[in-house]
Amino acid sequence: MPIEQRLGVNIDHVATLRNARGGAYPDPLRAALMAEAAGADGITAHLREDRRHIRDADIDALMGALSTPLNFEMAATKEMQAIALRHKPHAVCLVPEKREERTTEGGLDVAADLYRLSNFIAPLAEAGCRVSLFVAADERQLQASAQAGAAVVELHTGAYCDFHAAGNHPAAEEEFLRIARSARFAAELGLEVHAGHGLSYETVSPIAALPEVAELNIGHFLIGESVFLGLGPAIAEMRRLMQNARR
Ligand code: PXP
Repeated sequence: MPIEQRLGVNIDHVATLRNARGGAYPDPLRAALMAEAAGADGITAHLREDRRHIRDADIDALMGALSTPLNFEMAATKEMQAIALRHKPHAVCLVPEKREERTTEGGLDVAADLYRLSNFIAPLAEAGCRVSLFVAADERQLQASAQAGAAVVELHTGAYCDFHAAGNHPAAEEEFLRIARSARFAAELGLEVHAGHGLSYETVSPIAALPEVAELNIGHFLIGESVFLGLGPAIAEMRRLMQNARR
């Protein structure tokens, strides 16, 4: 099993905190640079349609200053496609988006939207962006993702984490097994496999131990934990748990 597994740090919630006061602090770019210094392999930022956390100027600043790849999360809309084609970030991760949700709640229904998504992905891939689709651990969606021309799928770990947090360990285990099967299936289809959403120190290890999972994207927990530990030590502890899980 490859020991190396990348950690992408999602800085959206530094922007959430900044926007709560309407000023300039805390600065998501500063958090991104600190995350890089603490060993993040990449930075993830989600420019939502309603700009509730990350804003266009944050993407400009990140593109100009990062030394690691930017994973640009976005909905599959014309507006976002134009922004991505202007910036040409290393990676684009397509996610479903609803204005009323607090966070990205489910995976993309790639199977139901295959034709549109194939046409949406093609110009991004031609521009050199590694396109990833955020999907539930479901074979139909993985097959459709490969057909749509995605290079990567990011498996949604939200349900696994929610069951764990609710103390429903049998359901968490069942969801974990679904993720493990899906990671194998996706790799067999030739897709690179990532995972993320809701991961914490308590839930990361089994997911990090999956041999096919090349990258984890983690945000909310790390930004929350950094209130207590500082961002660098919070990230360092996450890395330690990931590395231990892969030994
Ligand atoms: N991966 C994707 C595709 C996401 O949409 C998010 C949330 O923005 C994450 C990972 C990170 O989730 P969390 O902030 O819960 O760690």
